[in-house]
Amino acid sequence: MSKLFCINLKIMSVSVMIGALVLFSILPAIAQPLYKAEGNSVDKATLNGWNIYRTEACGSCHQSTGEGNVSNPNLLHSMKNQTKEHFRQMLIEGHGNMYSYSGNKTVVDGINDLYAYLKGRSDGAIPAGDLTELVQPLYKAEGNSVDKATLNGWNIYRTEACGSCHQSTGEGNVSNPNLLHSMKNQTKEHFRQMLIEGHGNMYSYSGNKTVVDGINDLYAYLKGRSDGAIPAGDLTELVQPLYKAEGNSVDKATLNGWNIYRTEACGSCHQSTGEGNVSNPNLLRSMKNLTKDQFRRVLVQGRGIMYSFRGNKTVVYGIDDLYAYLKGRSDGAIPAGDLTEMK
Ligand code: HEC
Ligand code: HEC
Ligand code: HEC
Repeated sequence: MSKLFCINLKIMSVSVMIGALVLFSILPAIAQPLYKAEGNSVDKATLNGWNIYRTEACGSCHQSTGEGNVSNPNLLHSMKNQTKEHFRQMLIEGHGNMYSYSGNKTVVDGINDLYAYLKGRSDGAIPAGDLTELVQPLYKAEGNSVDKATLNGWNIYRTEACGSCHQSTGEGNVSNPNLLHSMKNQTKEHFRQMLIEGHGNMYSYSGNKTVVDGINDLYAYLKGRSDGAIPAGDLTELVQPLYKAEGNSVDKATLNGWNIYRTEACGSCHQSTGEGNVSNPNLLRSMKNLTKDQFRRVLVQGRGIMYSFRGNKTVVYGIDDLYAYLKGRSDGAIPAGDLTEMK
């Protein structure tokens, strides 16, 4: 009983994590973040940084927490302004009482990872003490949209007729097990073995390449079904967000949309903020309900006082980017005024 409870809690925290990861990947994820951290779980490289910090005894001077003491600097402070280049130089050349690590392959090869770890400590995102590896979520799901691999799992479930016995919902019947229950305790290894060797009334799929190659995807799909994160029925692929924005930094395509808005003088009528005036519509409002197709039509065909942009290549080729930019403005995610490219 307590074991089951534990598993349930684990599943819950995984789905919370998935939510967090999905959000993160919508927001700042164009450049890879230096590290990923949630509680005391960190990505693999950062975990390696922590391991090097311990095994190479950086803590013998800087303390296990990195906070140092009268003779050794507090790395939590130092890292605030430390560039990677300076950090590397410090370790390779040594500095004052700190000897050079140029002959220590573990440290030299691990400089990026050490840097990530110490930056995370310094940012307050990584706690002192023991860390574990952050596991990738098995699947991403939002409503009936799932990541590509999981969508593939669903497709295999349908096309290979798993549902002819387990039902299309996975819930089975008197003769065939309810996979929503089975998957709660099914390891990937056991799942694989079951499909490859067959089991009781279920034949072996070892000769079915689609199933064999798709075992990971099937597993992700059925786990998501079993967790209650993926609904029965038709699924679609989780689409990339239209734009990414943080403060006044936006992704490259959206930045291009803003540039076109300015250089092609949309603002001469709709104002530089997009808010329009008595004679020209407020695009922040219009964009709430305009589909991409409707948007395209207005630009290509023109409407009323607004002339057609059909002959303007910059606008025609930039319609997607303009749409992303104006949607972001309309959503309140992108501020008026100058933008920069997200690094
Ligand atoms: C023998 C003690 C000692 C060991 C071991 C040691 N350090 Fe240092 N470290 C120091 C001292 C002392 C300084 C300050 C040097 C100076 O500015 O003169 C320093 C400076 C630094 C700085 C620059 C701090 C700043 O304020 O710019 C970094 C980063 C750093 N150490 C990281 C590490 C890492 C990572 C390790 C392990 C691979 C390590 N240190 C091992 C003593 C040590
Ligand atoms: C011919 C009917 C049939 C088909 C088709 C079928 N299964 Fe099964 N499956 C069964 C039966 C019956 C069992 C129970 C076997 C036993 O334990 O004796 C089972 C067991 C399983 C189990 C283990 C359940 C548990 O409780 O441990 C999994 C997982 C599974 N099937 C997945 C699939 C997938 C995925 C497919 C499609 C690739 C599939 N099955 C196709 C009949 C079928
Ligand atoms: C000459 C002034 C003018 C220029 C330049 C202009 N527009 Fe317009 N735009 C208008 C007017 C006026 C309308 C309303 C047309 C109507 O419904 O009669 C409009 C309508 C729109 C609509 C549809 C709004 C809705 O509520 O359906 C969009 C979207 C739009 N413009 C975007 C743009 C973009 C993007 C640019 C630059 C590439 C641009 N406009 C350039 C005047 C202009």
